[in-house]
Amino acid sequence: MRDVQRIAIVDPADATREPLRNMLLGVESVWLEAECSRYEFFHDVIRQSQPDVAVVALDADHAKALLLIAQLAQDCPGMPILAVSGRGDGQSILQALRSGAKEFLTSPVVLEELLTALQRLHRGRLSSDGTPLNGAPKADSLVIAVAGARGGVGSTSLAVNIGCTLAQCPNVGVALIDLDLALGDADVALDLMPDYTLADVALNIERLDMTFLRRSLSKHSSGLSLLPHPVQMEDASLIREEHLQRVIGLLRASYTHLILDLSKGFNATDVTALRMADVILLVSQLELTSLRNTVRILLTLGADPALSDKVKVVLNRVGSDADIGLKKAEDTIGKPIFWQVPNDARSMIESRNAGVPLLQHAPRSKVQASIAGLTQALCGTAELPPTPTRRSRFFSFK
Ligand SMILES: Nc1ncnc2c1ncn2[C@@H]1O[C@H](COP(=O)(O)OP(=O)(O)OP(=O)(O)O)[C@@H](O)[C@H]1O
Ligand SMILES: [Mg+2]
Repeated sequence: MRDVQRIAIVDPADATREPLRNMLLGVESVWLEAECSRYEFFHDVIRQSQPDVAVVALDADHAKALLLIAQLAQDCPGMPILAVSGRGDGQSILQALRSGAKEFLTSPVVLEELLTALQRLHRGRLSSDGTPLNGAPKADSLVIAVAGARGGVGSTSLAVNIGCTLAQCPNVGVALIDLDLALGDADVALDLMPDYTLADVALNIERLDMTFLRRSLSKHSSGLSLLPHPVQMEDASLIREEHLQRVIGLLRASYTHLILDLSKGFNATDVTALRMADVILLVSQLELTSLRNTVRILLTLGADPALSDKVKVVLNRVGSDADIGLKKAEDTIGKPIFWQVPNDARSMIESRNAGVPLLQHAPRSKVQASIAGLTQALCGTAELPPTPTRRSRFFSFK
């Protein structure tokens, strides 16, 4: 699922475009980025959508289509073109390839042939070490799963505030999926009243396309996009592992960062999220239940090296009076603590109650400074705008 190919198609004939479009929508590793019914407009569509592959159907007007292929091949040398035509004779194939197409398929297109051609094009875009050639943008995004060692440990607070902080970086698109399907509250933390939820997406999974999926996410003023948990508790059971796999796979193609706020149930969707994540933040606290559960969770995840290598333990609410010592906690857990977020009840609880993230509610608080540091440590290259210092408050009107 890591390598979703973003595809744009042009075909002026509805009779051939629609079956091809439906076939592409059914392919899990494909994201239909754009669909166009005029050769004249396709160049602009490509410029705006920057797909990984362009599919050009030739039969509506061979001369125009071949000219378009030649122009695209010249202007976008890193983007392979797949030509499709009902005429599978040697002459037609040769013309398309000479114009600049990398692959040719005869229509009606057969699914297996389409998949093989797409795989060849995908391999052709990668160098021997698996990195994209020709400066093509890397389709992968960073998926961060946030799991908690017990209820109320601070998973949602961290997930939401990491998301909003990250959304401030240039050239970054961040989406948060609330996977606490029954009792999630990421929408409350952001004071959003979403029109669509994960349940709507799961119910329409077969005809999920870019427009529908993007419309299903609610955008917060910080720039963070949210796909919330279902409104009705009973709808939680509609969401199955394969739905989540497809949704995460598609969102990775469109966002640079995905944050998954898990439930404390460690159920099938949580496990899917853990498997698909690049990083697992295990949120704990310096008290007995959290530390005991942290050890149990690490033991369970430790049975699968693919999971255990991704886990980073984050201690939340550090600095409360009743804290167990840090050294003792580290010895108990048997793993270094990746990050410590201070206890800052006033800023955090007020921010949660107001439904306003820390970045907007208490941008100079120590807890926001710590979360900004955590975000930087996780995302490495992300250029975070500087956190305002306390001194700058003197000049502010707040
Ligand atoms: N660093 C912090 N300092 C002070 N209070 C905090 C901190 N982090 C979280 N809290 C508070 O702890 C409470 C629980 O936080 P949160 O809802 O994020 O936990 P959770 O793990 O998502 O809970 P749930 O198990 O319900 O999903 C909230 O009232 C929040 O304001
Ligand atoms: Mg929560």
